[in-house]
Amino acid sequence: QDKKLWGGRFAEATAELVELFNASVGFDQRLAEQDIRGSLAHVAMLGQVGILSAGEVAQITEGLNGVLADIRAGSFEWRLDREDVHMNVEAALRDRIGPVAGKLHTARSRNDQVAVDFRLFTKEAALDLADKTRALRSVMLDEAEKHLGTGVILPGYTHLQVAQPILLAHWFMAYVAMLERDEGRFRDAAERMDESPLGSSALAGTPWPIDRFATAGALGFARPTANSLDGVGSRDFAIEFLSACAILAAHLSRLSEELILYSTFEFGFLTLPDSHTTGSSIMPQKKNPDVSELARGKAGRVFGNLMGLLTVVKGTPLAYNKDLQEDKEGVFDSYDTLSIVLRLYAEMMPKTVWHAEKTREAAARGYSTATDVADFLARSGVPFREAHEVVGGLVGLASRSGRQLWELTDAELKAAHPLLSAEVARTLTVEESVRGRQSYGGTAPEQVARAIADARKALGA
Ligand code: ARG
Repeated sequence: QDKKLWGGRFAEATAELVELFNASVGFDQRLAEQDIRGSLAHVAMLGQVGILSAGEVAQITEGLNGVLADIRAGSFEWRLDREDVHMNVEAALRDRIGPVAGKLHTARSRNDQVAVDFRLFTKEAALDLADKTRALRSVMLDEAEKHLGTGVILPGYTHLQVAQPILLAHWFMAYVAMLERDEGRFRDAAERMDESPLGSSALAGTPWPIDRFATAGALGFARPTANSLDGVGSRDFAIEFLSACAILAAHLSRLSEELILYSTFEFGFLTLPDSHTTGSSIMPQKKNPDVSELARGKAGRVFGNLMGLLTVVKGTPLAYNKDLQEDKEGVFDSYDTLSIVLRLYAEMMPKTVWHAEKTREAAARGYSTATDVADFLARSGVPFREAHEVVGGLVGLASRSGRQLWELTDAELKAAHPLLSAEVARTLTVEESVRGRQSYGGTAPEQVARAIADARKALGA
């Protein structure tokens, strides 16, 4: 165990349990690339403003690149007694180039160092998830277009009771709309967090004549953060990222639930690909939708990561508190989880086979065209509320006798309302019902075609 970088005032060695409890290197070593990028920008700036000599800058830069090479090669020794990624890198730099390494930390604190590292990581993660969300969005759009062609009709549900028939393409487009907003949330968050806290120093700024605009620019940030307390003490950028993750996870979980349900024997709407399902070790017949179940289950952890960080931050006074070290694992976890789930769904959806006869049959059951009968009466001048009452009576009659609406007799229909006849009942197919829903954003093929064209334009393809 070497002497702590902060060890000056301490007379006693750190207790072993404290080392264990305090250290973050086990997880924050994931920020090594960002940490070294931040240090390279910092040392270059220290040279530019004349705080360090050109020779010192060259030595430190070369040393940092050497450390980075070791880390990339996997030959770097991460040490728990060196606590975190920042002090592991700095101590390794000192091992490599000697005492001049100690000049790197001029006009800097670990507080602004970790803040800049973590912002760099989170911004990249947000943009990466935006891209992966976009990729899935594009896949779902392709599926919508494919099924506008096949004309597959699906029962639309409310309360998980058959409500009205819809096009499968329309169902896909609902997810396209959600994913478009999800992508936007990641891009908005990335833009809002696009400020460099480097140079906030411990909390109050620094007397050194640093150039925060130079380091911000070198690191690819739009500008430096405006307030040093906020720069080192705020984590809302990570909370916002986790929030976008949570909402996306909720959407993917709903999709998962639908796929799980629709792939059951009882529904039989779709078959998931063998490549993306798993078997049972005891029941040879099983084909389990594990990917979807895990995507649904992991949403719980992704929500938890958001709630966890909100809770960590809520009681901390300005500016930095060690509590904030708890900001990272949830972000890593949500990022990793969604990265893989988005990729899995992009692979799985095009390989999913829909069973048009089953979905059509289900869409036709459950009196799904009852609204269309009421609309027919209302178009003939019957007030809609009265038409609703009449058709409700017919549905009651049909369901008590185990029939569908089109199986009612002419006499029964006429008795319910003189304008009704078997002729009307026969036109109430699911296809007619779908064709009729021409309102903007409705499920009529023309509307879905327009929505697909708009979505293509929005995707820039
Ligand atoms: N490992 C710390 C973290 O992740 C780095 C900042 C520590 N700063 C301090 N003053 N103890 O938050």
